[in-house]
Amino acid sequence: GAPVTADITGLAEGQRLILEWRGQPIWIVKRSKAILDALPTLDGHLRDPKSDNKDQQPAYITGELRSIKPDISVLVGLCTHLGCSPEMKAEIRPEPFDPEWKGGYFCPCHKSRFDMAGRVFQGVPAPINLLVPPHHYENDNTIVIG
Ligand code: FES
Repeated sequence: GAPVTADITGLAEGQRLILEWRGQPIWIVKRSKAILDALPTLDGHLRDPKSDNKDQQPAYITGELRSIKPDISVLVGLCTHLGCSPEMKAEIRPEPFDPEWKGGYFCPCHKSRFDMAGRVFQGVPAPINLLVPPHHYENDNTIVIG
């Protein structure tokens, strides 16, 4: 499929832009400082906190934030278990109650949980982190997916 271009000029903190690339939903989320500060505190509860599994993302995406720019997260919006659509829950705690929850993505199909970098928590069915699609910045506010 052809690359898709996203204009993030008006994207506010905590907001998500959803577009489609190759038949898949692509999420572009602007993360606040509070969200970014919470991410490292979750590492001990995650299956692959440093996102070492290279099948989950392009080679230029490394580390805990899993993004080119710290505040802008770009993810494929499909659960890595069986492909359901996770819900974004920046502040609401999912059920069953998880004391370590600091917001993220919650898959209603079999209760997989991911943080705001798409990193999967331990003890849920999803085997790997949410995928990061190939992408780059054409300029400060223009992201090309694909
Ligand atoms: Fe998401 Fe099963 S499809 S937890």
